[in-house]
Amino acid sequence: MRQKLAAGNWKMHGVSNSLSEVTALAEAMGAPTSEVLICPPATLLAPLTGHIADLTAPIATGGQDCHAEVAGAHTGDIAAAMLADAGARYVILGHSERRADHGEQDAEVAAKAQTAWAAGLVAIICVGETLAQREAGETLAILDAQLAGSVPNGADGARVVIAYEPVWAIGTGKVATTTEIAEAHAHIRARLVEHLGAAAGGGIRVLYGGSVKPGNAAEIFAVPNVDGSLVGGASLKAADFAPIVAALDAS
Ligand code: PGA
Repeated sequence: MRQKLAAGNWKMHGVSNSLSEVTALAEAMGAPTSEVLICPPATLLAPLTGHIADLTAPIATGGQDCHAEVAGAHTGDIAAAMLADAGARYVILGHSERRADHGEQDAEVAAKAQTAWAAGLVAIICVGETLAQREAGETLAILDAQLAGSVPNGADGARVVIAYEPVWAIGTGKVATTTEIAEAHAHIRARLVEHLGAAAGGGIRVLYGGSVKPGNAAEIFAVPNVDGSLVGGASLKAADFAPIVAALDAS
């Protein structure tokens, strides 16, 4: 049984007074049956983790990236062990914004995942096609290539979450149709099982991400093989994220 996961990706948003949103989120959601995760900017990881501990709220924290190397001369980068030291349990890897802004390739994402595992973190590995790739009918082939290249051997539900995020749906207000989501998620599930075996591949949670909001969450969470969501903009405000968590609990 895969526990549902509502993961918030704050991206490059949030300063110390953003912690008050997490207080409001904890109050609004109470004791969810879904797992709830917030991935704030690195500067907020330790204070947010401490704040959540003070609230005794069932919310985990995670980073948004880590370096593939354990440590070294990499100015501006962050090591997986540093995220773990700051309280993170998860790290988002290979987000399309990192692939676009920093030219990250599948092999680098796979190397980062292994470094994350060594630090005890769960890797949320992001995959998804661009609009041009979808229009060219390449979506499933792109997902195959990204899964084969970015998900290391040895992946299982304890160490990996997959986030399917069509690039054209991220931050645009455009949401994939439930038919498109169902097709992609069924395909990802089949590939995971094929590559990793029924137990490991069947245990990995597959999240949908891209313009998930309170108004569309229930419809998306009803799609087979959707085990939750990676939420960007709507994770910044408790008034948006709490109803998404409630919709996931109800799914
Ligand atoms: P969005 O971002 O919800 O703002 O579209 C999702 C993501 O990039 O993870």
